[in-house]
Amino acid sequence: MFPLIFLSLFLLPPANLAAVSNDHKYLKLPLLRKSPFPSPTQALALDTRRLHFLALRRKPIPFVKSPVVSGAASGSGQYFVDLRIGQPPQSLLLIADTGSDLVWVKCSACRNCSHHSPATVFFPRHSSTFSPAHCYDPVCRLVPQPSRAPKCNHTRIHSTCHYEYGYADGSLTSGLFGRETTSLKTSSGKEAKLKNVAFGCGFRISGQSVSGASFNGAHGVMGLGRGPISFASQLGRRFGNKFSYCLMDYTLSPPPTSYLIIGDGGGGERINAVSKLLFTPLLTNPFSPTFYYAKLKSISVNGAKLRIDPSVWEIDDSGNGGTVVDSGTSLSFLADPAYRLVLAAFRRRIKLPNADELPPGFDLCFNISGVSKPEKFYPRLKFEFSGGAVFVPPPRNYFTDTEEQIQCLAIQSVNPKDGFSVIGNLMQQGFLFEFDRDRSRLGFSRRGCALP
Ligand SMILES: *[C@@H]1O[C@H](CO)[C@@H](O)[C@H](O)[C@H]1NC(C)=O
Ligand SMILES: *[C@@H]1O[C@H](CO)[C@@H](O)[C@H](O)[C@H]1NC(C)=O
Ligand SMILES: *[C@@H]1O[C@H](CO)[C@@H](O)[C@H](O)[C@H]1NC(C)=O
Repeated sequence: MFPLIFLSLFLLPPANLAAVSNDHKYLKLPLLRKSPFPSPTQALALDTRRLHFLALRRKPIPFVKSPVVSGAASGSGQYFVDLRIGQPPQSLLLIADTGSDLVWVKCSACRNCSHHSPATVFFPRHSSTFSPAHCYDPVCRLVPQPSRAPKCNHTRIHSTCHYEYGYADGSLTSGLFGRETTSLKTSSGKEAKLKNVAFGCGFRISGQSVSGASFNGAHGVMGLGRGPISFASQLGRRFGNKFSYCLMDYTLSPPPTSYLIIGDGGGGERINAVSKLLFTPLLTNPFSPTFYYAKLKSISVNGAKLRIDPSVWEIDDSGNGGTVVDSGTSLSFLADPAYRLVLAAFRRRIKLPNADELPPGFDLCFNISGVSKPEKFYPRLKFEFSGGAVFVPPPRNYFTDTEEQIQCLAIQSVNPKDGFSVIGNLMQQGFLFEFDRDRSRLGFSRRGCALP
């Protein structure tokens, strides 16, 4: 049975493709990471705020009214996609976020924008293809309306669709919901033009989460979630309803390029990589139709399975708990009972001097000054997902430098009664992840990141 949200897919015409021949079976977008990478402490503060917000909105409300969450709330340690939008194309950096649905960019209403610096906001008046949605357009029902929006008068021509998103910390983005032509590089290197991609043109953006330093130079968010308005949903019907990415280690210098690939295809090498994927079913949570849930079954530390009650991983009747795979959250979060056992096992096993002081929000930190290969001291974490897929990240995916010579466990506790576990983007580094939406499964592989 499909949840209702999938039906609403049909409210939205699929983004159609012009000027691309049929041999383009998939889209490939470089994923960038902007420096400077914020400190893990900053990342944590932002992650926590985001999670708090995600938890807040997880109420049993009809999906058409539920606020679509922007990954902007996390704003740090993010991977970006360069999207060209409008005609002529304007180039903007968007956060690639599997934890939200909406595609939105900062917009400026200027008529003569020559005194604005380019590539910091989108100028809809400079685009011949910008088309605001009418408030009566079915697509408008997929985004939350401002609380004091005028009632939609469907006989009036100029009744545009307004949207508004609020954040737990009081941040807001609001503006017009509409459609635009976007240009993307395809696998062959040619530009593909996608018409009628639905997106939010944000005129008013306020608050820490979506502006200022914490937004880290982003101009918007590319929501890749499971909801009908996400970029993945809109493009999935044209290119194949799956996408994949490999998040490269951000500490490497120069930073390697990784790709977000939307669609099915992609040459021999990719098929090779895909053949090595381990799969686990994606679960749906009717209370949070945006997220990609996977079912964690157990955690082992150096091969010893921790005694975690299986109920710890369940999504409960009110939609709490469960485990989400999110590119828009930096650190990882584990349900508290599991977290405590991981922490205890690590404390017992790691023979490194403790840091004199713990940075705020971290529970386990070591002073590695004079230690030549600290990763040798760190135990191996092993996550077993349902279906038998086993995820064994290297220690650098869960120990991170918080300051010079100090490394901390990059996993935090979350209460599964009002939150959920998260496999964040640091934990995903160096693995190819494939979100196969049609077959409702998540694949991953340690090999496959070497792909161009
Ligand atoms: C836009 O502004 C610039 C500088 O302020 C001016 O030189 C130009 O003529 C203006 N263009 C239009 C179309 O108004
Ligand atoms: C809707 O707009 C039309 C045309 O502008 C107007 O005649 C009509 O009174 C409006 N209806 C309402 C309910 O405001
Ligand atoms: C780490 O250990 C070194 C050597 O013992 C010491 O000099 C330094 O102050 C310690 N740093 C912190 C942040 O604890």
